[in-house]
Amino acid sequence: MSKVRLAVRGDDREFTLAVGETILEAAMAQGLPLDHACGGVCACSTCHVKIKQGAAAFSEASEDELDQLDEARDVGLDSRLGCQAKLLRAPEGGVVEIAVPTWNVNAVREGAGH
Ligand code: FES
Repeated sequence: MSKVRLAVRGDDREFTLAVGETILEAAMAQGLPLDHACGGVCACSTCHVKIKQGAAAFSEASEDELDQLDEARDVGLDSRLGCQAKLLRAPEGGVVEIAVPTWNVNAVREGAGH
């Protein structure tokens, strides 16, 4: 399976993303904190990420995903649900870059303390 580099803004670690994998799957496998309250079935918006680079290489957002994103905070044109955005092919330049919205990171940090 071909893998591409997954860069995460504000995180210096090296992550990878495989073709056929969702961002949430890659995050969970590599210890990248990304919330997923519904377990990855497109029923919340806690896995919200922004794809800053390589977005065209991902599966298209479904109606359900867009509905969930409507409920999310800090949504932009580059917003996706991490559990739904699946990499279909190697992106141009071979790198995917994402940003995890700050409020989401804070929620994860608070949760980790308990
Ligand atoms: S984990 Fe709930 S929508 Fe992605």
